[in-house]
Amino acid sequence: MIHVTLDGRGDLAARIYRQLFDAIVDGRLRPGERLPPTRDLAVRLDVSRNTVALAYERLAAEGVVVGRVGAGTFVGADAVGPSTARARRAPAGRMAANASWASVSPMAAASAGRVDFDFGVGSPDASLFPFTAWRRLVARELRLTRLDWSHYADPGGHAGLRAAIARHAGLARSVRASADDIVVTDGAQHALDLIARVVLEPGDTVAVEEPGYPPARRLFQALGARLAHVPVDAEGLVVASIPRSTRVVYVTPSHQFPLGTPMSLARRRALLEWAAERNGLVIEDDYDSEFRFEGRPLEPLQSLDTDGRVVYVGSFSKVMLPALRLGFLVAPESLRRACLAARQLSGWHGSLPTQAALARFIDEGLLARHVRKVTREYADRRARIVKGLSEGRLGRRLRLVPSAAGLHVAAVATNRSVDWTEVARRAETRGVFVRPIRHFAAATTGADGLVLGYGLIPARRVDEGLRRIADAVARA
Ligand SMILES: Cc1ncc(COP(=O)(O)O)c(C=O)c1O
Repeated sequence: MIHVTLDGRGDLAARIYRQLFDAIVDGRLRPGERLPPTRDLAVRLDVSRNTVALAYERLAAEGVVVGRVGAGTFVGADAVGPSTARARRAPAGRMAANASWASVSPMAAASAGRVDFDFGVGSPDASLFPFTAWRRLVARELRLTRLDWSHYADPGGHAGLRAAIARHAGLARSVRASADDIVVTDGAQHALDLIARVVLEPGDTVAVEEPGYPPARRLFQALGARLAHVPVDAEGLVVASIPRSTRVVYVTPSHQFPLGTPMSLARRRALLEWAAERNGLVIEDDYDSEFRFEGRPLEPLQSLDTDGRVVYVGSFSKVMLPALRLGFLVAPESLRRACLAARQLSGWHGSLPTQAALARFIDEGLLARHVRKVTREYADRRARIVKGLSEGRLGRRLRLVPSAAGLHVAAVATNRSVDWTEVARRAETRGVFVRPIRHFAAATTGADGLVLGYGLIPARRVDEGLRRIADAVARA
């Protein structure tokens, strides 16, 4: 169905020839692909069949297409080599994005599997994922009778999934929500985007943790908010340091990103009091607390909240896979209608077969089983990292931040003599990917050290990875 127009110069056959030739040379038509039959193209262009045949003959004479009797005309197997394929690019253009977006660029992928010892943060181990079960569930949905394929669905998402998430989050995290309260999103980031759009006015202040989660900061800023970077101490976000002008606070109370500290109950209460007194909203990002290694989890802010001041955000990126893009939000009733409308205006409702498969995955107990299985594996990796960080050369330079859940640990420097950004750079030359704490901070003056993820590194590689980091410290 190649697009051919008769605009331009030259006789009709020459114009058709030129466009097909260009399409072959720049790779839109690939070797082996069939050109439209001359009769069809002639009808489409309202020209005689001879005109099209003439164009095809010229292409054949140049060796870029071959005719096969009774089968049609095909792009030649070696019509274009990779070196001759011309990239076809959109024009550069002079239009600029608006002021909020002009300085925002896409973030580079983190480690993307380039290194042998990958302590990258935030990625689960895909090799542990039950692909066979998932394939069965997705395949089951890909039938005419399983879904209403011809129509757009409820912006809140697949009904079965909303119910399954309400039960799952209620059981596992004591989140108070019915199926109607759940809005299924394309990951937590999408949930943050929806909430920010429906509550923020341009120039509003959003308080974020320092250090904190850069994609959330960048999002709020791109939507026109001012950021207030509020420090985090051993009890989590320092509520007393939230500036007066703040309207929204974004926090990761179960497992502070990136330090890992759980927010104390006293702080949780103080934050809810702040919200009630200042008419503020709290966004609670509970992104990876399903992996729990010790102790009992504290109540989420959402379940302590009696005033409708908390939006709870969950993600399936860690317990399932980030590539599936599945997450959800639970908004207080006062925001629900706006969140549903924003969800609808932003992509309508995500992919239903995937959502339906996740509903079954949860309902059949497969999610709970998967989380139990990977938690055992991650516990082993985590224990090795914790041990390695608390002894020897690293133990003298770093102090582990106490944490009980999640997919990474952080260790802060015991003094300021080491440049941890330089350590990370040197480690990378020796096949180790690791992030300094500063990578996640807005300022360059706070505590530094390292954040080590264990989603990607097999347990047997942890010790050698840490040894290489210790070598990098010695040289930095
Ligand atoms: C603090 C935080 N929030 C949310 C997410 C997950 O986001 P998403 O569900 O968009 O993949 C991550 C992933 O690394 C994270 O670190």
